[in-house]
Amino acid sequence: MNRAGVSAHLFTLVLAMPNLAAAEPNGAALFEERCALCHGAGGQGNGRLSKLLEVAPANLTRSRANDLYLRSIITLGGAALGRSDRMPAWGGDLNAAEVDALVRHINTLRNPFRAEGK
Ligand code: HEC
Repeated sequence: MNRAGVSAHLFTLVLAMPNLAAAEPNGAALFEERCALCHGAGGQGNGRLSKLLEVAPANLTRSRANDLYLRSIITLGGAALGRSDRMPAWGGDLNAAEVDALVRHINTLRNPFRAEGK
């Protein structure tokens, strides 16, 4: 490739970068779409479906689980970890980056420095 070809190539790469950034999954949006129905928009376990489940959805703002456990239960579902099968397995639906984005989002919901009740 000559020099002009190389710079044209670099230019295309730079143009593609904002698209790469946009591909980063949005944990808050995923949570709203997939999880809020049971866990509630703020993760407090008070979603619209929560009253209909025989096992209450976890209040994620009070969760003490570490990131590895969060990743496991989200991917494999409650039953695989000896918990309620009302917590679905998302591994078939969401990729690892999406699960990680959800774990990061849960960590913002349970940030101990957030004001109580928010
Ligand atoms: C159909 C209802 C439902 C949906 C939808 C749902 N969950 Fe759950 N989830 C539950 C229930 C019920 C439990 C509690 C299981 C138990 O205690 O045995 C739970 C437990 C959890 C836990 C365990 C928390 C802890 O501290 O042990 C995590 C984490 C979790 N859910 C994350 C998610 C995420 C993330 C999503 C969306 C991708 C989601 N859930 C969608 C019902 C649901």
